[in-house]
Amino acid sequence: MKNFKRNEMCGNLREKDIDREVILMGWIQRARNLGSIIFVDLRDTTGFSQIVFDDTVSESMFKEAEKLRSEYVIAVKGKVRARSSVNEEIPTGKVEVLAGELSILNEAETPPIYIKDGDNVDEAMRLKYRYLDLRKPSMQNTLKLRAKVASVFRRTLEEERFIEIETPFLGKPTPEGARDYLVPSRLSEGKFYALPQSPQLFKQLLMVSGMDRYFQIVKCFRDEDLRANRQPEFTQVDLEMSFVDVDDVIELNEKVLKAIFKEIKGIDIEMPIQRMTYKESMDRFGVDKPDLRFGMELVNITEIVKDAEFKVFSSQAVEGSSVRAICVEGGESFSRKDIDKLEAFVKTYGAKGLAWIKITEEGVNSPIAKFLKEEEISAIVDKTSAKKGDLILIVADKDNVVFDSLGNLRNKIAKDNNLYSNDDYKLVWILEFPLFEYDEEEERLVAKHHPFTHPMDEDIELLESQPEKVRAKAYDIVINGEEMGGGSIRISNSKLQERMFKALGFTQEEAMDKFGFLIEAFKYGTPPHGGLAYGFDRMIMTLAGIENIRDVIAFPKTQSATCLMTSAPTEVTEAQLEEIHMKIR
Ligand code: AMO
Ligand code: AMP
Repeated sequence: MKNFKRNEMCGNLREKDIDREVILMGWIQRARNLGSIIFVDLRDTTGFSQIVFDDTVSESMFKEAEKLRSEYVIAVKGKVRARSSVNEEIPTGKVEVLAGELSILNEAETPPIYIKDGDNVDEAMRLKYRYLDLRKPSMQNTLKLRAKVASVFRRTLEEERFIEIETPFLGKPTPEGARDYLVPSRLSEGKFYALPQSPQLFKQLLMVSGMDRYFQIVKCFRDEDLRANRQPEFTQVDLEMSFVDVDDVIELNEKVLKAIFKEIKGIDIEMPIQRMTYKESMDRFGVDKPDLRFGMELVNITEIVKDAEFKVFSSQAVEGSSVRAICVEGGESFSRKDIDKLEAFVKTYGAKGLAWIKITEEGVNSPIAKFLKEEEISAIVDKTSAKKGDLILIVADKDNVVFDSLGNLRNKIAKDNNLYSNDDYKLVWILEFPLFEYDEEEERLVAKHHPFTHPMDEDIELLESQPEKVRAKAYDIVINGEEMGGGSIRISNSKLQERMFKALGFTQEEAMDKFGFLIEAFKYGTPPHGGLAYGFDRMIMTLAGIENIRDVIAFPKTQSATCLMTSAPTEVTEAQLEEIHMKIR
């Protein structure tokens, strides 16, 4: 590299640079040898430049240039000139560099994956050779976007007096509800650390410490079943504030979200962001993270069919069950086969079937028409506002099955039929979540958020008598049907905390064993406090319009939580196991 000091980046050259002498360094995207002239597309993190070796260069240099292959790393010194055939597709397409000096810095073997955007290479190969996959402009752009979003978060939070504080990774289990990743201790035989599912307890302790406003961009670890939007280690933008109630946390976060959408997307999102109760969200959309970019809302038709002869429907007219419908505009065109597929889809959510009514030119077409009176059908058509050409889809079951089935069906139909655009952003706060939910496996109430979530003031009196009716001071920010973040106001009163533990069925000892240090800390003067954590990876997915969480993370894990590049997790030696007092069963 002697004589060479890079003085320009490949993606920056424009017509104004003509006649400048530049030194570029990078990777060869492509080298084309036309006999008397060699064209090289040189790539760095900013883009591409075309380099030309022609008969004006020395014979020895031309010989050297003939060796150039894809992914060789080179340095070139040369003069910028106008291109004779302009390439409109790239920003540097009006100019090229006539090589004056060439230095091959490193050769490269033929890469196992093609380094080009839009190449449909198998994801396993991309993950195995991640360092090559990350050379693609799209991947580099996503990581740059990620860094920029992090920086907007940092700046806006710092402007609001938040300070960034790190919390430990080696800790005690946190109360987030997923399975913990455990780390055996060498020094304390038979004991384990847990990697944090979130910094929840530490951030609350920081409020007891009087730090007032904390934030952290932090890794969280959860050993749970992975999906397209979940990773075993993921990043949160985590924050906590003192002397606040629900509105204060929401207002602060609206400032942050406003800045992110303005600076990243150039969009002025509507302020204040709309709010919806959990109950309304379930009733209208069947889910607690509604996608508001399209309609097709759920309609309750239980009243209409409560006395119907069709027992499948009328039998659900009892407390806790219902019959609900969605109307698919233009759905008359769905074939029998299409509808069968939708029925199979809702069955995965526990539905026993999917009844349907088509409104055709000739009238109503439906397999359940024979079981219903004409008035009942026309009342359903009225209530769902179905028009000619539409399709009504109905599920009758326990409420949770009906919501789950139709809520997910609504999203699926919208996705399959392109009923929304990825450039449209609909934000909504979901509020008044139930404080508890029933755990079918454990057959008891568990905290829906975590055991430190404050009940709504007007519901506190129901804690003992009707705990299932108690609503929480908890809130989620939902963007385009994704839960982007969630948080709550915390309990800061030890009497109330005791009642909460009791409602959850923890004995005093169990509570002390799990969270004793927090309960102890709360004795010494605790400010009212609350906070929120954003799913940072999900935020990037939404802002970049990317559907696979792995595509927004530099070195992600597979669905089975492995790293194909490093082969983690791996076996360890007998000696290593012995040191940590472990034996494999
Ligand atoms: P919660 O558990 O809701 O809250 O997590 C906050 C946000 O993190 C994202 N998220 C995930 N992203 C990727 N992969 C995962 N496995 C994953 N799990 C969660 C979601 C979610 O909204 N301590 C509380 C916050 C608080 O109360 O302040 C917490 O962790 O986008
Ligand atoms: P069956 O009489 O069981 O063949 O059902 C007649 C129609 O009702 C079929 O289209 C089924 O998919 C539908 N169906 C059955 N059970 C339910 C249910 N619980 N909710 C909605 N539709 C159902």
